[in-house]
Amino acid sequence: MDLIIKNGTIVTPVESYKADIAVKNGKIVAIGTGFSEEGAKVVDAAGKLVLPGAIDAHTHLAMPFGGTVSADSYLAGTRAAACGGVTTVFDYPMQRKGKGIIETIEGRKEMCDPEACVDYAFHCCITDLNDGAILDEFEAAVNYGITSFKCFLVYKKEGMMVDDGTLVKILLKAKETGAMTNIHAENPDVIDLNIEQFLKEGKTSAWYHYLSRPEFVEAEADKRAIHWAKSMEAPLYIVHMADKEGLEAAITAKNDGHEIYIETCPQYLEFTCEVYKREDGRNFVCSPPMKGQESQDALWKAIESGAIDTVATDHCPFQSYEKDWGKDDFTKIPNGCAGIENLYPYMLSAANDGKISFNRAVELCAFNPAKIFGCEDKGSLAVGKDADIVIYDPNKEFTISVENMHSDYDHTIWEGKKLHGYPVKTFVRGNLVYEDGNFVGKPGIGQFVKRVGRK
Ligand code: URP
Ligand code: ZN
Ligand code: ZN
Repeated sequence: MDLIIKNGTIVTPVESYKADIAVKNGKIVAIGTGFSEEGAKVVDAAGKLVLPGAIDAHTHLAMPFGGTVSADSYLAGTRAAACGGVTTVFDYPMQRKGKGIIETIEGRKEMCDPEACVDYAFHCCITDLNDGAILDEFEAAVNYGITSFKCFLVYKKEGMMVDDGTLVKILLKAKETGAMTNIHAENPDVIDLNIEQFLKEGKTSAWYHYLSRPEFVEAEADKRAIHWAKSMEAPLYIVHMADKEGLEAAITAKNDGHEIYIETCPQYLEFTCEVYKREDGRNFVCSPPMKGQESQDALWKAIESGAIDTVATDHCPFQSYEKDWGKDDFTKIPNGCAGIENLYPYMLSAANDGKISFNRAVELCAFNPAKIFGCEDKGSLAVGKDADIVIYDPNKEFTISVENMHSDYDHTIWEGKKLHGYPVKTFVRGNLVYEDGNFVGKPGIGQFVKRVGRK
């Protein structure tokens, strides 16, 4: 054996039990007791939980956006991921007019390969069908391991939005090729109308970011996407769900038997739109914005009930000076916040506080994203899976600060948040990459995760 983790409590989505894990060549080869320790590195996890590494299914690393590029490179973002117990990161490369899917992905893969500190996968954002050539490429993309495509129903001026006709073509082609369609749901025309009005009235603070994109703006687009997915009998994954009305529509469609998956993010579970009234409100500007208390309560209820499938971060940080561009005009604030290092500790702390079970936290952050997105070797602690393992100390107290994070950004919306319990070790395919507050891995060890399409 290369590695034995012994005396810990293993957590799966359905049970927690005491056993040892044996690792060889990056794989879990046995779970039980009494393994020979000869030649193996032995880690004593007594009093600790042993968890599958989390999968952050939604990040934007080195993303050109909002007049700049998001602050975390592949190196910084995946280093931070490792330190927060995330062992696989999904990034969202952006296909642009005239460019192909695989061409787009290979461009980002080239950047990511030498830098990745954890394993990585790509969804591909589609912004233009290139007269149909993109649809013809779906099958090859799925065979390449890109099995999910994202449509923005918003960001019209940024040239990222797709119209309903394009969305329907993508839903159908994704269904035919065993892929998934992911959507960012907000109504762009109503946002633009609101923005125009607010700017005319001199209403320029971050609070008007929220008021230009309130609950019903997201709900309309959620419902529209659900309508098209249902009508086409195509699977749909709604990213960063933040509003109650859209959430309820998605849950109803799921309960009616439609294949709809719901992702939310820790920021929507922790903050409400009240943050936009703060002096530093611009630092919280992301789209969709945080919503009111009713939406937050509905999200937690759906986390508890099982209706929400995944929690991911939408990690897209910008530096303070970039956020400051919008001090006097909320439309100039680059949209996005940090979270990659906070995802698992936040959800596990919620479990430690009794809000959900540890099993449910593992299901939301590891098991479900692996299953939904075809990461066959990831997401659980079971024989034959990759040895992506987190050792979690339920008794460690931790206060988030930009000083103890491992990204490249200079502030965090999570500053001062107290967590009960914290990861103390992260292994990626058996390699130790994080230990007791320090990154101990190597850039370049992360590998591309070739995903499988839906059967
Ligand atoms: O504000 C956000 N969420 N920025 C990243 C891009 C997106 O919409 O996911
Ligand atoms: Zn989005
Ligand atoms: Zn996003």
